Parts: sequence; C-alpha cells; structure tokens
Amino acid sequence: MTDSGPRQPTVRPRDTRFSSGPCSKRPGWSLAALERACLGRSHRSAEGRAKLGEVIERSRRVLGLPADHRLAIVPASDTGAVEMALWSLLGARGVDILAWESFGRGWLSDITKELKLDDVRVLDTDYGALPDLDQVDPDRDVVFTWNGTTSGVRVPNGDWISDRRAGLTICDATSAVFAMDLPWHKLDVVTWSWQKVLGGEAAHGMLALSPRAVERLESYRPPWPLPKIFRMTKAGKLNEALFKGDTINTPSMLCVEDILDALTWAEEIGGQPALIARAEGNLAALRRWVEASDWADFLAEDPANRSCTSICLKIVDPWFQGLEAADQAAAAKALAKLLAEAGAGQDLGAYRDAPPGLRIWGGATVAQEDIEALLPWLDWAYSKIKAEQAAVV
Ligand SMILES: Cc1ncc(COP(=O)(O)O)c(C=O)c1O
Repeated sequence: MTDSGPRQPTVRPRDTRFSSGPCSKRPGWSLAALERACLGRSHRSAEGRAKLGEVIERSRRVLGLPADHRLAIVPASDTGAVEMALWSLLGARGVDILAWESFGRGWLSDITKELKLDDVRVLDTDYGALPDLDQVDPDRDVVFTWNGTTSGVRVPNGDWISDRRAGLTICDATSAVFAMDLPWHKLDVVTWSWQKVLGGEAAHGMLALSPRAVERLESYRPPWPLPKIFRMTKAGKLNEALFKGDTINTPSMLCVEDILDALTWAEEIGGQPALIARAEGNLAALRRWVEASDWADFLAEDPANRSCTSICLKIVDPWFQGLEAADQAAAAKALAKLLAEAGAGQDLGAYRDAPPGLRIWGGATVAQEDIEALLPWLDWAYSKIKAEQAAVV
C-alpha cells in the first residue's frame, strides 16, 4: 500500500460477471451450445417433449431427488413456482413465515396482503441474521427461503425441521439448489429457476413436490380462484403429465437447450458435489480476504449461516460507519460503479433494499481464480472512493 492507497491492480478476472441473477454462464459457454435446440417445433412434439422430459430427469439425477418426489417445469421463473405453491397449498393450516431479507418478506406480503390468511406467525429478523428456527411449529405450514439472496444468510441445515411434521415445508431455494446440499425428505415444496447456480436462461421455474405436498393438492381446494398457470390438478387429481414435461403453457425451447447444456457441464465436472465444492471454494477465497480486511466484513453474522452463492459484504470502516445513511448508500454505489468502470467486476452492488455494501455471486459457474483476481480490485476501489469522498467533505 502507498500513502494514497493500494496501487491499481493490473490483472483482471477473466470473467468479470458476478451478478446474482442472471448469473454467469458456465465456463466455456458460447452460442454454439444452443445449436441443437428444438426450434420452430411444437413443444408437444415427440422431440420437444423429449427435451422437456430430459431437463426434469437430468435435474433429478444431478440433485439426487428422492424417487417419490415430483418435479415440473413451470411458468414465470422462481416467483412463478413459489406463487403456484402458495396459492395452491396454503390455507389448510396455520402458517409460519420466516423472513430475514427481501425475498422472504415478499412471500410474507403475498400471504398476508394478497391471500389475506389470518392464522399467520411471522418469524423475522434483520439483514445479517436468521430468525430462531426452533420456533417453527411442525403442526403448521412453513414458508422460507433456503438462501436469502439479498443478505447472504442461509439456513445452516434442515435439523430444525421435524420428520414427524403435520404441516408442509415450502422452500424457495432458487439461489441454493445445485450449490448447497438440501435435505429433500424434509422439504415438501422446493422451487428454483435456471438462471442461478447453473447460469441458465431466465423465465422458467422448477417445482419439486413431496408425496405429502401431492396429498395436500389432492385433498384440499383453496377458497380463492386459481389462475390457469397455477393449476396442478385436474378434477381433484394431480396432473401427472405436468411432471413429465407437459408444461402448462409454451416454454422457450432455446432456454431448454441452454439448461440441458448447463446440466451436461454439471455432469461432466462431477455432478452436485463438484458444484458445491466450486461455490464453497469461492466463499473460502472471500473469507481469507475478509479476515485480512480492515474495511469489509460479511453481512452474515454467523459463519455457519454464510451463503456460498450470494456473498454479501458490509463496510465496517469507521469512516464509512460515520457517514449519514444517504452518503453511505452513495459511497457503496460509487464503489460498485468504479469496479465496473475499471473492468474488474460487474453487478457488484448490494440489493436495492439491503444495507449498502457489495454482493458477489460465488455460485458454481464462477471460477475461484476470478474471485481471487477481483479481491485486490476491491481494496483499490474502496480506498479510491474513500479518498475522493473524504476530499469532498
Ligand atoms: C430467494 C429468491 N427468491 C425469488 C427470486 C425471484 O426469482 P425469479 O426472478 O427467478 O422469479 C430470487 C431472485 O433473485 C431470489 O433470489
């Protein structure tokens, strides 16, 4: 470090994409990966159906989904999959909602303001922490995110979920699936999208259902109207074809080809263990840097809950802490902008509702060398922003 801060690094990450969604494509991806797409054909043709069925089957295999869990491709990305589950399943029992960042709070709003359920218990806390998971009542349904993408706080495991529960566990796991080990037998509904850990294209959701969730679907009819794109049953029975690739409406076969390419990459590098190892390696690289940093720390307070995908950093430097809230937000924004302009890393700003800081995607498509190459740039950029802003004041 010189008097005026660290010198500008010379080596940039080879891939500077660190967005938390859509996330970086897999290493080596090019448009050639899409050449065999089933384009201009009906998705209900034999070829189209085969591709859709293949996405389901290969996702199941990579994830080790239990044989009795169903998996479907549904409309409207992860949001579509979660809302389909909330609208179809809730209301039969009281519901506990865990909210510790923006997405959990969004589901809370759906449940209280749109579905207007009244037997709702909210277990919430602020950015950086997790609510007390032991308060979850196994007799009630529970809705939660596995990984809070906007705070970088994840649940550490499923030990708090009872194997003898009467309620359903409805889990938005979009920034966790493929990068974290999920206890499938404890999760009755799991949702995700293609554009997160595998770096696929956006627009389609995946919805996994346990036999208990299917039982609820077949025995309970919610009191509110269900739009066609949410309907999973026909005449009170599960629409089994949906779980074989007969989608409710038209999917993009280009996106389908792309997720098949991503699954091929995942299989080739060693399946889910390799995907998890890549994400955990990225978190470990950041942890080494944070431990030596005098200005940045993880937003997630407890190391056991730190996300290995959406890695969120707060700025703990006393100078920054002493700024007014609006000036903190402006400085953090300027930091992310400088990093992008310097060609060091894109989309590194914290989520709009989260405390000001940085968010670095460490999911499986991001290479650890790229995270490591980014780190000196963080020090350089922070010191430059601090010097500039301190000069203004
Ligand atoms: C935890 C979580 N839930 C829901 C969403 C919304 O997902 P989508 O845009 O795929 O609908 C996101 C997106 O980042 C997320 O991280």
